[in-house]
Amino acid sequence: MKKKKLKLKKQAYYIFAGIVVIIVGIVLGINYYNDAKYKETMEYKLMEKGYTLEQTKTLQEKLSETELTTILEKEKNDQILDFLNQKYFLFKNLDTYMEYAEEEEEEDLAKVVAIVNVHANLKWYEEEYESDTSLNEQMIVNKFYALKEDYTPENISVIPLTYSYGEEGDNLLIDYAYDEFLNLWQAAKEKGYYLMVTSSYRDYASQKEIYDDLKKSQGEKAAESIAARPGHSEHQTGLVVDMTSTTAPSGTEFKDSEEYKWLKENAHKYGFIERYPEGKTYLTGYEPESWHWRYVGKEAATTCYEEQITYDEYYAYYIEK
Ligand code: DAL
Ligand code: ZN
Repeated sequence: MKKKKLKLKKQAYYIFAGIVVIIVGIVLGINYYNDAKYKETMEYKLMEKGYTLEQTKTLQEKLSETELTTILEKEKNDQILDFLNQKYFLFKNLDTYMEYAEEEEEEDLAKVVAIVNVHANLKWYEEEYESDTSLNEQMIVNKFYALKEDYTPENISVIPLTYSYGEEGDNLLIDYAYDEFLNLWQAAKEKGYYLMVTSSYRDYASQKEIYDDLKKSQGEKAAESIAARPGHSEHQTGLVVDMTSTTAPSGTEFKDSEEYKWLKENAHKYGFIERYPEGKTYLTGYEPESWHWRYVGKEAATTCYEEQITYDEYYAYYIEK
């Protein structure tokens, strides 16, 4: 009897011990599984690379899985985070940002981002891309993006002599831009400003003439900062007006006028932007042109105005990406 009891006790003990072993095994197994699973996460891999938890969180917040995988392939670099926090950061340009900042010893990272985004890290005209004219008013034409020699805008309207200098028919603008130009003109008139167009659509041949003449009279370097090479002028898009007013001085003097100040604050409401603003020559390649206004549509114009960016920057970040 006593022996049987002892046997039973022993059995119970074994069962209990077995259960404990199983439970411990399960717990350890779960832990091991969880651990192995965690090691597969991006968070673990980034932290293994040396990024802090905070940096890891930022990286994960701002980058896609594919981009994070690319980050893992690179050496750990805190500057990645500094670039990532720039408003106009584009992942595809990350390596170029870092190379440019180092080579040029440029510490202003926002400036580096802007320069690389608009391709101004390259020498002007070193590379040439074809402008995507199917974008209509959002097409870009600059020192990198060019129009073909035979590109001519469709549905072009004559700007009558009420609003332009020269001969009737000299000044032309794409119809939808012309409609908005009239609205802009009317709004300016209500303020007592009579805007006058001095130049607008120019074909490839007339741009060539302007550029060649300037090159001859002022030398290549000066010409490059004033006039576009043929194919590279926005005037060929039919979306541009050079303006002055009946009372304001024209040319470079226009920048001191009330009309210019008004345009700066109001042109975007009608879809026009100042295309070559002061302080942005390093991005546009042109000296400021207070008279040159480009139609890009109201949404793009308002963004350029509110964010104080050139169309080159806008195009790189919002369209080209
Ligand atoms: N003056 C501007 C840059 C042009 O020639 O198109
Ligand atoms: Zn112009």
